[in-house]
Amino acid sequence: MAPALELTNLTKRFGDKAAVDDLSLVLEPGAFLGLLGRNGAGKSTTLKMVTGLLRPTSGSIKVLGLDLETHGLEVKRQIGVMPEDMALLEFLTGPQYLRFVGRMYGLEEAVIDARQQELFDKLDLAPAPKTVAADYSFGMKKKLALCAALIHGPKVVFLDEPFEGIDPVTSRTIKEILASLQARGVTLVLTSHILEIVERLCPLIAILDEGRLKDFGTMEDLRRGGGSLESIFVDLVGGARKGELSWL
Ligand SMILES: Nc1ncnc2c1ncn2[C@@H]1O[C@H](COP(=O)(O)OP(=O)(O)O)[C@@H](O)[C@H]1O
Ligand SMILES: [Mg+2]
Repeated sequence: MAPALELTNLTKRFGDKAAVDDLSLVLEPGAFLGLLGRNGAGKSTTLKMVTGLLRPTSGSIKVLGLDLETHGLEVKRQIGVMPEDMALLEFLTGPQYLRFVGRMYGLEEAVIDARQQELFDKLDLAPAPKTVAADYSFGMKKKLALCAALIHGPKVVFLDEPFEGIDPVTSRTIKEILASLQARGVTLVLTSHILEIVERLCPLIAILDEGRLKDFGTMEDLRRGGGSLESIFVDLVGGARKGELSWL
């Protein structure tokens, strides 16, 4: 079987700054990768390229064996994306938005409605019927974005900071959903700057810093030299201690 994701020398420059710098990585089907890095490390830029939202400066991307450059549409049919900014159509209600997304994927109305109900139930998403997404709370928007990423039954799912700004109850529900996707062989990639989340959730970890892949493997691989993920992370990405604040 072809790898679920294959990045080869992937690079994205903004001006003369490389946001993603010569990134190569292979994920087998069913893998669950946590892409970990500080703010500005290049995580979102990587996901945007991989999901076809941003064109690489150089390098190649294959999803399920298909080259994104030549088979963009086929790739997009098989992936689900929860982007950084969620990218909702906020003038629609949640169900209207999911109907729109579902139709784009060619799903039948009855299928869309049934899946929407199931997703809303599972995520405890119960907006008043006429409430447009613009009036959803941040957590509700995040849940709706997750519904949109999953409604067509994707084989590979990319989530950019899915736990950012989420309460603990919702966070647990999202974790359960990710676990059940993983159990069904769906390949998952999430980004986070939160060590604990990646450490607890993701069997595979990639550490990105200044656009470069600093380490990649299982927690055990990363622990080669011993220590916690925190100490490995801080060692890898620098983070020199600064002095005290002068006025405190
Ligand atoms: N559209 C853009 N134009 C210019 N610079 C960008 C753009 N998008 C991202 N960057 C820069 O690229 C770097 C990586 O950003 P990003 O991928 O968003 O990081 P992360 O998601 O890890 O926080 C940052 O320095 C950011 O300022
Ligand atoms: Mg980001």
